Amino acid sequence: MLSQTLGLAVLALPLLAEASKDCSKATFQKVIPSNSTFNYVTKVAEGGTFTDAEANANATGLPEGCAVSVKVPTPGNSSYNMAIYMPNKWNSRIITTGNGGYGGFTNWQDLGQYSHYGFSAITTDTGHFNPNVLDSTFALNKGSLENWGWRAMHGSVLVGKALSAAYYGQTHKFSYYSGCSTGGRQGLKEMQVSPDAFDGVFVGAPAWWIPHLSIWTSQATLANLPQNSDHHISAALANVINDEILKQCDPQDGVTDNVIMNPAGCVFNPLTLLCEGAANASACITRPQLDTLYKALHDWTYFDGTLIFPVPSLGTPLVAYIGDSPIPNPMGTGAIEHMLLNTTEPYDWSTFNESVVRLSEAIDPGHGTPDNYDLSTFQKRGGKVIHWHGEADPIIPFRSSSYFYSQVASSVAPHDIEMDSFYKFFPIAGMSHCSGSQYSPWYIAGATQPLTNVSHGVPGFDDAQHNGLLALMRWVENGTAPEQLVATKYNNDDPTKGVYRQRPLCPFPKQPIYTHGNVDSASSWKCS
Ligand SMILES: *[C@@H]1O[C@H](CO)[C@@H](O)[C@H](O)[C@H]1NC(C)=O
Ligand SMILES: *[C@@H]1O[C@H](CO)[C@@H](O)[C@H](O)[C@H]1NC(C)=O
Ligand SMILES: *[C@@H]1O[C@H](CO)[C@@H](O)[C@H](O)[C@H]1NC(C)=O
Ligand SMILES: *[C@@H]1O[C@H](CO)[C@@H](O)[C@H](O)[C@H]1NC(C)=O
Ligand SMILES: *[C@@H]1O[C@H](CO)[C@@H](O)[C@H](O)[C@H]1NC(C)=O
Ligand SMILES: *[C@@H]1O[C@H](CO)[C@@H](O)[C@H](O)[C@H]1NC(C)=O
Ligand SMILES: *[C@@H]1O[C@H](CO)[C@@H](O)[C@H](O)[C@H]1NC(C)=O
Ligand SMILES: *[C@@H]1O[C@H](CO)[C@@H](O)[C@H](O)[C@H]1NC(C)=O
Repeated sequence: MLSQTLGLAVLALPLLAEASKDCSKATFQKVIPSNSTFNYVTKVAEGGTFTDAEANANATGLPEGCAVSVKVPTPGNSSYNMAIYMPNKWNSRIITTGNGGYGGFTNWQDLGQYSHYGFSAITTDTGHFNPNVLDSTFALNKGSLENWGWRAMHGSVLVGKALSAAYYGQTHKFSYYSGCSTGGRQGLKEMQVSPDAFDGVFVGAPAWWIPHLSIWTSQATLANLPQNSDHHISAALANVINDEILKQCDPQDGVTDNVIMNPAGCVFNPLTLLCEGAANASACITRPQLDTLYKALHDWTYFDGTLIFPVPSLGTPLVAYIGDSPIPNPMGTGAIEHMLLNTTEPYDWSTFNESVVRLSEAIDPGHGTPDNYDLSTFQKRGGKVIHWHGEADPIIPFRSSSYFYSQVASSVAPHDIEMDSFYKFFPIAGMSHCSGSQYSPWYIAGATQPLTNVSHGVPGFDDAQHNGLLALMRWVENGTAPEQLVATKYNNDDPTKGVYRQRPLCPFPKQPIYTHGNVDSASSWKCS
């Protein structure tokens, strides 16, 4: 058997060497599913621009290569499109990217980014086209919902790997994943559906707990409604409250630098904001508003105290999740209508109670929730995960990630697996959803972390210490685990204007602790 295999390999080698990177349908026809069709097979010249009709961006300045897209029909009157970009100078690796919200688009922004590393890079449209990431009407078609949940990603990875092997005449050496938000969820889901899909998974702020998260986005705004009630907190007042939270919490971490390094460790006293005796009547809160604030700062639970969904951490901009609009956040409303009740009839929030959450759990829309926490199969075949999340994320609360982490930890523990052996979670203090912070270092070259005029990587510091993807590759391929990462903030988020601050990110549950020296320098901090 062995000699037979070797014999075949020897025979195959000259053929492989002849593989001509021929960017034509003939190269790929034999490897796509028999029920599938090409959307395009297009050669791209060095420095070229490419996009397609479903793209979220134009990929510009591409390395010379081949763009292919395939349409795969799926059961239930549905289909998905996948696309891959294959640079001619290939690093022998594949990467798959993800999407955002309920959106359906091909992620040419990320394909462009990853092609510069030399990856052949895969994207899926999730099974529908809609650049509006808040619109869930696609879910009325249950075939499309299943595609969004997991099927489009799963199939796109398989088709993409086959296209890549056909183009280069050899299979990839390593397979990676990188995505944020829904993209984070898709990566965690696919590694559970198929533990051998990826060798390394780089996920940010995963929107993983869909049955609760979608409804929470609306539930969080209900407490601040109606707008004309005496308990309503306006956007302006929410900013006053955030200023007070920063004032109290920032020094408690030992360094006053406009960054709350440890929101969970802050003791916040909201009573200092009460109007009773306050000098400025437009910068204080009433007792009814205090009740709204209390809800905004405490987790949503069932009557028996079981967690439904964690609220964002202290320091997260309140208005971004309690809202200042006359209606509840339409993301949750849409999910209830299109994913649970399967109707276009408007949902009546006056009838809302937690039974809707139970219904959501029972349905698990599109079977998209990665709650098969036992990742031991993935770990045993050498898989590694780097998971990151901004601690000031108003869209996907930070602690939904620490909850996921602890679920995985307790599921692999019976297999004698330590999380540190394969799964590291890096909180990013002060960062918003996937990217961005005014004062805090946040950039690690993650998915959907765009920087002005940067094609890829961490300008000036493009190494496994500062670039999370390179850290993951080094861990997977060389066995060197990242003991910390260093996040960077450039002045005005423009690398040509120089570095504003750098700071270590520590693997959860470790924390960055200031030791001595310049607070803006990573070497002044340690993980402990
Ligand atoms: C791509 O570029 C074209 C031409 O500049 C522009 O019209 C189009 O909106 C861009 N597409 C995306 C998705 O940004
Ligand atoms: C088309 O083929 C793919 C790949 O084999 C399969 O997953 C999919 O279910 C097929 N579509 C239909 C409508 O049967
Ligand atoms: C299939 O889906 C399309 C929209 O995607 C719809 O227009 C059409 O009516 C559907 N066909 C059936 C038989 O449900
Ligand atoms: C009162 O507070 C508001 C909101 O913070 C602020 O805009 C205004 O300048 C304050 N007025 C005085 C007199 O401090
Ligand atoms: C809506 O569709 C889902 C399938 O995605 C199904 O499980 C659920 O029972 C349907 N809801 C109603 C109210 O029929
Ligand atoms: C909760 O809402 C459901 C409908 O969504 C309703 O059937 C049920 O009676 C409500 N329960 C309570 C306790 O109000
Ligand atoms: C980014 O690049 C574009 C095109 O090369 C240029 O027009 C623009 O001024 C650059 N922006 C910055 C902030 O450097
Ligand atoms: C693995 O280590 C070798 C030798 O130090 C280095 O050249 C290579 O770049 C490393 N690979 C990765 C993916 O970090």
